[in-house]
Amino acid sequence: MRKNFLVFGSPCIGQEEIDEVVATMKSGWLGTGPKTHQFEKEFAEYLGVKHCVAVSSCTAALHLSMIAAGIGPGDEVIVPSMTFCASANSVIHTGATPVFADCTIPEMVLDPVDVKRKITSRTKAILPVHFHGRPVDVDAIQKIAREHGLYIIDDAAHAIETEYKGRKVGHFAECTCFSFYVTKNMTSVEGGMVATDNDEWADRIKIYALHGMSKDAWARFSDKGYKHYQVVMPGFKYNMTDIQASIGIHQLHKLEKNWVRRQEIWNAYNNEFRDLPLDLPAKVDNTIRHAYHLYAIRVRDEAGISRDALMQRLQDQKIGTGVHYTALHMHQYYSQTYGYKEGDFPNAEKIGDTTLSIPFSAGLTDEDVADVVKAMKESVC
Ligand SMILES: Cc1ncc(COP(=O)(O)O)c(C=O)c1O
Repeated sequence: MRKNFLVFGSPCIGQEEIDEVVATMKSGWLGTGPKTHQFEKEFAEYLGVKHCVAVSSCTAALHLSMIAAGIGPGDEVIVPSMTFCASANSVIHTGATPVFADCTIPEMVLDPVDVKRKITSRTKAILPVHFHGRPVDVDAIQKIAREHGLYIIDDAAHAIETEYKGRKVGHFAECTCFSFYVTKNMTSVEGGMVATDNDEWADRIKIYALHGMSKDAWARFSDKGYKHYQVVMPGFKYNMTDIQASIGIHQLHKLEKNWVRRQEIWNAYNNEFRDLPLDLPAKVDNTIRHAYHLYAIRVRDEAGISRDALMQRLQDQKIGTGVHYTALHMHQYYSQTYGYKEGDFPNAEKIGDTTLSIPFSAGLTDEDVADVVKAMKESVC
């Protein structure tokens, strides 16, 4: 058995990130400033979009995008039930109502047919989640949005490297929101980004992210001399710091190299697990580029072991796992507040009850991968 516990989702931090953080700490400017602006510029170049605004989290990015779209009380936003709670909570923070829709199996992404069913006269936007790194059916979602005059606000927390029919994520929606939380494909410990081609929305998001002030702190205090500012709206405190950006810049430089490593691990797992009584992730064909954020399997009935028992067996063998996710409508808050009940979203429930994610970080060694494979094979037979 392994000596040390294999932590699920541990990040790959190198000397470059450490050196940059130290340099920033010694520079005299730690808050939002030149490093954050460099990170925004490089991220916009990576995606090929006009604007990127760095913020404190993907949750903040989603919230600000919806504010920029004018979404508020009385409005509805369609959100998959199979996602992390932040996707729905960001809608609730605007005063609007999240309306859940089911996902497809085996893809586990938002089902356009169910989205159509959930549209009412109050619907203002669709919030697709490129789940685990797999793009939604972008053509179908865009067609629905066009036909009904809806905004698309993309939750790309899992999907920085995702492409659909040769187009990069960041080009499917009015705003696309990214997460740099520690377990994500790249991290700034905590952090997020909004990508948009809309000049006016980008300005609004920047101002809303920092108290509603007309100038950010660097613009006021930089070597160009102090500048007065006006509060033009009651904003939030959602800005990214230069310490976070110092990590993010180098994580971005390593993004593609780390993607290649995760693809290798993905293929190794697919190969090793193909005869086990498990449903492996849906096939990746050449119309999409999967970001390979999570490797999530579903435990079939004939496996003779429940998902939770399998997680415990892996834990006993020092292999960390996670569940992504329990369907949102099965959580107390959403069921009590909006009246959802078991049976409302059968596919999301099935995934929520049977799925587990196994270690899949680019930092895994070949020995780590072999340990995961061995533990899985010994646990499921
Ligand atoms: C699908 C999805 N959306 C949004 C978020 C929120 O990201 P953050 O923690 O950066 O706010 C997460 C985080 O896990 C996520 O998985």
